[in-house]
Amino acid sequence: MKMVVAIVRPEALEDVKKALFDAEIHKMTVNPVKGCGQQKGYTENYRGTIINVNLLSKIRIEIVVNDEFVKPTVDAIINAARTGNIGDGKIFVLPVEECYRIRTGETGSDAVG
Ligand SMILES: Nc1ncnc2c1ncn2[C@@H]1O[C@H](COP(=O)(O)OP(=O)(O)OP(=O)(O)O)[C@@H](O)[C@H]1O
Ligand SMILES: [Mg+2]
Repeated sequence: MKMVVAIVRPEALEDVKKALFDAEIHKMTVNPVKGCGQQKGYTENYRGTIINVNLLSKIRIEIVVNDEFVKPTVDAIINAARTGNIGDGKIFVLPVEECYRIRTGETGSDAVG
């Protein structure tokens, strides 16, 4: 089991959701977040204090999948979210130790799938 964490542009969310559904990935958690990448945005000097004003609005999507679904998930997100411009986002893949479906008590890949 892996967790795919994707941070994408807010305007990419609808296309990413559609691409995931088309790839039969139906479970996800979505949150609005603030972040910056390698451009570091910029800083502003306000009355002698360096103020960090570079945190941009992004959308964080978390999807836990069985291992064979990692590539389809990542491919769907990349295809839907890529514009080719800076700030298109990042995808992280993390190991997941266990999953429990609370309603049934199922565990592991049965609970994820
Ligand atoms: N190493 C990182 N750790 C945590 N969050 C990150 C990291 N890199 C990017 N992010 C998050 O992803 C968002 C989008 O990153 P972004 O696409 O700007 O990455 P980048 O490395 O700067 O690539 P690019 O040069 O294409 O812009 C950031 O605003 C931040 O929220
Ligand atoms: Mg960037």
